[in-house]
Amino acid sequence: MDSVDLATKAVREDRLWQRHADMAKLGGTPRGGVNRQALSAEDAAARNLLMSWAKARGFAVSTDGIGNLFVRRAGTDPNAKPILSGSHMDSQPTGGRFDGMYGVLAAFEALEALEDAGVRTKRPVEAVAWTNEEGSRFQPGAMGSAVFAGQYDLQAMLEAKDWDGVVLKDALAQTLKAAPAPTRAPGNALDGYVEVHIEQGPRLENDRKTIGVVTGIQGSRRFIVTVLGEEAHAGTTPRAARKDAFVSAVAMATSMQAATRDAEDTLRFTIGRVEVYPGSPNTVPGRVTFTIDMRHPEIAALDHYESKLRDAVARHAAPCTATIERVTDVAPTVFHNEVVDLVRAAAQRLAFTNMDMPSGAGHDAMHIARLCPTGMVFVPCERGISHNEIENAKPQDLAAGTRVLVETLVRLANR
Ligand code: GLV
Ligand code: MN
Ligand code: MN
Repeated sequence: MDSVDLATKAVREDRLWQRHADMAKLGGTPRGGVNRQALSAEDAAARNLLMSWAKARGFAVSTDGIGNLFVRRAGTDPNAKPILSGSHMDSQPTGGRFDGMYGVLAAFEALEALEDAGVRTKRPVEAVAWTNEEGSRFQPGAMGSAVFAGQYDLQAMLEAKDWDGVVLKDALAQTLKAAPAPTRAPGNALDGYVEVHIEQGPRLENDRKTIGVVTGIQGSRRFIVTVLGEEAHAGTTPRAARKDAFVSAVAMATSMQAATRDAEDTLRFTIGRVEVYPGSPNTVPGRVTFTIDMRHPEIAALDHYESKLRDAVARHAAPCTATIERVTDVAPTVFHNEVVDLVRAAAQRLAFTNMDMPSGAGHDAMHIARLCPTGMVFVPCERGISHNEIENAKPQDLAAGTRVLVETLVRLANR
């Protein structure tokens, strides 16, 4: 057997599944999902568990200034740059057990499989858990990978606040108490990145395919709209005299929903968080903020629909005032041919049914792709459901994706 065969055969489905079960206890919810938001106590517990597994296998652990966590299996060439694989361990507030965590555990399983098979690689292979991918607690999401890739400024991110006003750097210090001090500089010292993830959509399941060979990720933008009105007494203030921030916000949202509907149903538009201030039943709302998440594979379409959003804010603000702020803008990503071809070839050689597909969801890979040859591997999840506590996937599919990952990593690390 050659080293690729030895390593892919050493992937252990039972161990990988058990590690998901162990992690699912950290932030586990009654409905079987997880609430493990970035830099929370549950996130810290997941990091500590991963570090304990790394220690038990003799892998080195390091961190950087935004708290990304790296687990390294050394290569034979001390000067070679590493090949990285991973994803995130934070979750949505009503998240599932696989979104993100699978990519981290698959990468760790890859290191263990290489170790168990005694396969040496020229370049080091590292598993990484990127900080705050979900962006549900601290904005913007995919923060750790974006800082690592030089897309976002570290100091600005450290000052980010969650919805309750907690400053990120304070939460980070709490979270990293048991981790080594940051030594890892952000930057370009990588020779390849492969991220494994559940698909989070229904295509693989519908097409009865085990592996998605991911060709790229659609572009995404997030906005925060703030509507300022005037608080007033709900019992006494005539409707005509009010500046009700919620009334204006609803008019904007309704107009945006209509203006962003495209015939092909390609554009994704979501208002996922609305805050009404002061949130009292008998006070006319004086302030409303709401978030917009908008995605499309083409920049021109994102520009076009962004102008519609801005129109809606301008047209429906009165008698209040309103602003719309773009908080993230991630261009569409096209993955590197070399990695895409290696993933496809590995799936074929391992005899897994597969198809090429773009990603509708965002992933840390979209930022790391700006640094080095990057690609992704998808596996099916039940009914395509994700960002939901009932998210589910099959142990054998998780193992299949990990085998494809191992083969791709070995080929990248030895090229
Ligand atoms: C990641 O969870 C995303 O929002 O695409
Ligand atoms: Mn994810
Ligand atoms: Mn997610």
